[in-house]
Amino acid sequence: MKLPSRPQDKIIIALDVPDTDGALRLIDSIADHGEPPALCKIGLELFTAEGPSVVKAVKARGCEIFLDLKFHDIPNTVAHAIRSAAGLGVAMTTIHAVGGLVMMEAAAKAAEKMELLILAVTVLTSMDSDQLSATGINVEPKEQVLRLAGIAAKAGIGGIVCSPLEISAIRESFDEKLRIVTPGVRPIWAAAGDQKRVMTPAEAVAAGSDWLVIGRPITAAENPKEAYAKVVAELS
Ligand code: C5P
Repeated sequence: MKLPSRPQDKIIIALDVPDTDGALRLIDSIADHGEPPALCKIGLELFTAEGPSVVKAVKARGCEIFLDLKFHDIPNTVAHAIRSAAGLGVAMTTIHAVGGLVMMEAAAKAAEKMELLILAVTVLTSMDSDQLSATGINVEPKEQVLRLAGIAAKAGIGGIVCSPLEISAIRESFDEKLRIVTPGVRPIWAAAGDQKRVMTPAEAVAAGSDWLVIGRPITAAENPKEAYAKVVAELS
């Protein structure tokens, strides 16, 4: 997938709503002079409720899709799921890096020659060192993130989803070819909510993030169009 050049193309709007109507309303409330957000993220809630039809509906509004279903299964199953995602015409999708090298190689191979960017999710930000240790992983989350990112890169996976505070370490350890997508971004004027490890959009891009996933600072704003325009201005 081509790297974004315009600031607005760096923003992925998280469509964290339960149904297609809500998703389309949200897009329309953000569209700037009729131009919809370049990329929208459809996650587990919306896709489980509405299925492929929501992908088609959002694409018909003119948005590219980040299908965030975090596949984690045996290599053969994940490879087929990746083909299904590619068949839906989505631009980006996610797998769990903890599925291992062979699973990620199968995913990368399934997307070969396709315009589909696969992103590996490393350690969920809801996991702390105590929870990791209970699963038998006795290292700090950051060390585990870098280890899993290394396996993803070796498998030929195109990018990583990581929290703002991990961007620099990933950029230092891997070359430019590994794309970075970052949630947990908060403009100074927005409430952090339940996001703890936050950075502003401009800081996250300066640190090396290629795309930013932004939900509530825009979607829950009194005026989503204005909030979106403010983030675009901040990135300009
Ligand atoms: O509303 P907010 O900007 O926090 O939304 C961020 C989006 O990114 C949500 O869809 C959330 O599920 C997702 N996400 C996240 N933190 C992660 C991974 C994904 O906030 N570590």
